[in-house]
Amino acid sequence: MFNIDFIFGASTASYQIEGSIDKDGKTSSIWDTFTKTKENILDGSDGSIVCDSYIKYKDDVKLLHELGVKAYRFSIAWSRVIDKNNNPNQKGLDYYINLCKELRKYNIKPYVTLYHWDMPQWLEDIGGFLNDEISNYFMHYTDVVTKAFDGYVSDYITINEPQCIMFLGHRLCVHAPGVKYNDKEMLKAIHNLLLCHGKSVKIIRKNVKNSTVGFAPCSRPMIPTTNDQLLYKKCYEEYYKLDRDNEYPNNVSIYSDPVFLGDYPKEYYEKFKDILPKITKEDLELINQPVDYIYQNFYSGTFYSLDKDNNLVKEPFPFGYPEGNIDWLQVVPQTLYYGPKYLYERYKKPIIISENGFCNNDVISLDGKIHDPERIDYINRYLIELEKISKEIPIKGYFYWSLFDNFEWNSGLKKRFGLVYIDYKNGNRIKKDSYFEYKKIIEKGGI
Ligand code: BG6
Repeated sequence: MFNIDFIFGASTASYQIEGSIDKDGKTSSIWDTFTKTKENILDGSDGSIVCDSYIKYKDDVKLLHELGVKAYRFSIAWSRVIDKNNNPNQKGLDYYINLCKELRKYNIKPYVTLYHWDMPQWLEDIGGFLNDEISNYFMHYTDVVTKAFDGYVSDYITINEPQCIMFLGHRLCVHAPGVKYNDKEMLKAIHNLLLCHGKSVKIIRKNVKNSTVGFAPCSRPMIPTTNDQLLYKKCYEEYYKLDRDNEYPNNVSIYSDPVFLGDYPKEYYEKFKDILPKITKEDLELINQPVDYIYQNFYSGTFYSLDKDNNLVKEPFPFGYPEGNIDWLQVVPQTLYYGPKYLYERYKKPIIISENGFCNNDVISLDGKIHDPERIDYINRYLIELEKISKEIPIKGYFYWSLFDNFEWNSGLKKRFGLVYIDYKNGNRIKKDSYFEYKKIIEKGGI
């Protein structure tokens, strides 16, 4: 069982669920633009309707209430609440205020993510994260939101998965805006993104009484296959290695060290000495604002062992190993044991799992229900590991991804992570078996 004050929640993100992409003064976001090129998305779909949460938000809250969660993590679409002249758009703000009012009616706490990847297109047009003013725009946006939500929201997450923003959006270019950065640009953009985080935290602290603040990266932990201490140490070091797999924009320490420890890793200065962006002491202090939690999105891990010379080697997944209906999602429950353990060991902050979930090829059965035993199995296995580590270090909460099936970015509508099934033909919402299982777990307070 978890502690009595453990937060069980569910997560969503604006572009993935809201629809109504041009209502009430909303401007285009980079995802509105990116999805116009049909080849960018596996099934050519887009976020124009999806779960229709802009209209059906009261139904969303009823589903959360019946599920029994104490917390709902959703994100704000920057392009809904700030217009092209950088002024507040009251109608957009009202949508989120009404959502919060509804949540409060049922005693569900809002956890608000400020940036879950949907930058206003007009900001991308003036350089996006390469524009040195971007952190001031983000600070202004934070100021507008926190003032408008005064009395409704006290828990904020600045940025979701910086890794995906940079690696998928600007290196592989499979996510919006699909603009490739060279290394020099990448480092500058990462620094600007971290400044967005830092400046935003300062504003939240100023405007919100009793606030809690965090930052939500993602990671894929190395899982030791034995109890060998040396193997554990090597897995830990590998997890934090700056340029693991030659993918520094996708790794942990480049973002989390500056935020939680106040500086980039040593390797960063060595590796990039000729192309470093301008980094001042003031910048680093700004980025290193005190935060309350490490939020982290964990889905899967990779097994490792040692060879005869004590070198770390990746273990292949055994044939027939359970995996989700998306190429990167192998079922590795120990992810929720080792991931938090590594994070706590280095950063010493309480941890909240901001996303964890399973992608399945769900179908409506002949009885009209959605039977998803694989997802039930996934949730149970992962929560057993989380319970185990919560006896060793402070784990404050768990948000299942996602409340609904939704627009899974470049995978479109085909990939389903929800506890609630969306029938995209008619907009019907059907609770899956896993919805009832998670409800039971919440009632019991654990597995
Ligand atoms: C996380 C994101 O990467 O994983 C979510 O924060 C996303 O927004 C989820 O939906 C599932 O990943 P994918 O690749 O299916 O979109």
